[in-house]
Amino acid sequence: MISNIITKGINGIPNVPGDKSISHRSIIIPSISNGTCEITNILKSADVLHTLEAFKSMGVSIIEDKKNLVIQGKGLNSLSESKEPIYLGNSGTSARLLTGLLSAQNFNTILKGDKSLSNRPMKRITEPLARMNAKINTTNGSLPLSIEPSNLHSANIEIKIPSAQIKSGLLLAALNIKGETVISESKITRDHTEIMLKSFGANIKTTKTDNKKIIKIIGQKELLPKNIDVPNDLSSSAFFIVSALINENSNITLKNINNNPTRNGILLALKKMGAKIKLSNERINNNENICDIEVVSSDLNGCDLGPEFADLMIDEYPILAIAAAFANSPSVFRGLQELKVKESDRLKLILLNLKNCGIKCKSENNDLFIYPSKKYEVKKNLIQTDFDHRIAMAFCIMGTKIGPLEIKDSESINTSFPNFKNELNRLGGKIF
Ligand code: S3P
Repeated sequence: MISNIITKGINGIPNVPGDKSISHRSIIIPSISNGTCEITNILKSADVLHTLEAFKSMGVSIIEDKKNLVIQGKGLNSLSESKEPIYLGNSGTSARLLTGLLSAQNFNTILKGDKSLSNRPMKRITEPLARMNAKINTTNGSLPLSIEPSNLHSANIEIKIPSAQIKSGLLLAALNIKGETVISESKITRDHTEIMLKSFGANIKTTKTDNKKIIKIIGQKELLPKNIDVPNDLSSSAFFIVSALINENSNITLKNINNNPTRNGILLALKKMGAKIKLSNERINNNENICDIEVVSSDLNGCDLGPEFADLMIDEYPILAIAAAFANSPSVFRGLQELKVKESDRLKLILLNLKNCGIKCKSENNDLFIYPSKKYEVKKNLIQTDFDHRIAMAFCIMGTKIGPLEIKDSESINTSFPNFKNELNRLGGKIF
């Protein structure tokens, strides 16, 4: 895919797809509820379709109609053994959440993934699950992994790595365990699982102290069926937001966007850089914060973001790095170690590709420094993505400023935003 320079800005109302994190959970939790759930505006991307196929293979009836689903929940304990190993493609969220959920079912499961997913760390979820007596064998700490049925017991677990995927995997296991499981985290991670479980009637309580969030869940309570309207994805919106900010003559409005305070760091960071971003129509739907977002072209300043931002926007650093490359002064983003274990080593690829685009940057102790300049000389116009959807989309936006850039293996964009190219072109992009 080639992304070329634009001159007339990005304008209009982008059709941003449903939120990826909420879409996964909108299949998993209804599938183990006790009745029929209607899901609207689900994201139909490769990652979410892998979760959907996984539940179909475990005997859940799911009727699909465009972006809507009708899921016939089977209850906490009635999933059935998949005839084949469950293949999860590129999806880390499916892998971590299903490892937790399926470790508390009474059948064997094998989980597999693509090359990237098979290199991602799974011990972060299998080790805490082992403390609940889960029986899981990984391949050198990664997928493929096999889960054997075992009697799980409750435990008190402090999560050391900030990760909503770990937390959610543990919560899904705890749903099926007798007694109270206590999970605590000292850093903020997205809380979609807690919000959804509460609305499905799970016995779950969260309390916050100054430096900790404690979640108590008493298992073996059946989940009530509920309908879910999935809001649109802020992470996918971020590519349009930054393209409008850095290209003159731009004005876009994104509608019905999830603005959950545990993951809206990108809006805070861009505002800190002087972005003209206006939120309106703020409301609550299914206990999630939703809003519309208007963005116009802006002169951005560099900024110094502490590691607390990494907890609130880990997926948005590739596109934030593009914004920083066009700011009036240098930026530093601190505490990015988790960026190295995403769909690719994103820290490495941001550095490599920014340098190829002629932008001075470096990393030191997991902090990323970007030094913008008024003029760029593209050294190599081939963007290396290692099949990572967010790296591909971020450098596509870079191409709208300094293109043409050739984005290698851009089909990975199907992971989260299949219509990205058409939408960007509809609003003024030049991608072919
Ligand atoms: C996700 C959590 C994040 C994020 C991923 C989706 C989720 O991962 O990077 O894209 O849906 O729970 P970690 O919480 O493991 O950092």
